[in-house]
Amino acid sequence: MNAETLLAAAREAAEKAYAPYSRFRVGAALLLSDGAVVTGANIENRSYGLTNCAERTAVFSAVAAGRRDFAALALFCPDADYPVPPCGACRQVISEFTRKDFPIYFAGGRGEPVHTTIGELYPHDALRELADQPRPSPPPR
Ligand code: THU
Repeated sequence: MNAETLLAAAREAAEKAYAPYSRFRVGAALLLSDGAVVTGANIENRSYGLTNCAERTAVFSAVAAGRRDFAALALFCPDADYPVPPCGACRQVISEFTRKDFPIYFAGGRGEPVHTTIGELYPHDALRELADQPRPSPPPR
C-alpha cells in the first residue's frame, strides 16, 4: 500500500474523532506487515489532560489486538492548513514498536504531505536500550 492510500485511510479515520473541546480532528492509519490497516482518531476528555491522540489510539488498538508488526503510519489533520507531525508523546510510543527507518507520512487540510521516518522525527529516543533488550516472559502464576 502506498503513502497516498494510507493517508486516505487516515483522512477517513479523522471523521471518527471525538474532539468537541479543540475542534481539531486527527486521524491515523497504521499499516501492518500483511497489508491490514488499523485506524485511530483523537479522543478528548473534559479533563483535557486525558486526551488520547489519534496515533496512540491506532497503536494501542493494534497492540491490544495482538499486532506489533507495524509497517508504516499515516496521520491526517483536516482542520490544519499545514501538515501536522506526531506529537512528542506519540513519537515515544511509536518508537517502542518500530525501528529507526519506520515510515511516517503526515498531512493537513492544505499543503503537500510530508514523508519521513521515526528516526528523523525522534533521533535521540529515550531509553532505546530498554526496548531492545530481550525481556523474559513473566513467571507463571
Ligand atoms: N492530536 C493528535 O491526535 N495527534 C497529534 O499528534 C497532535 C495532537 C490531538 C490532540 C487533541 O485532541 C487535538 O489534537 C488538539 O491538540
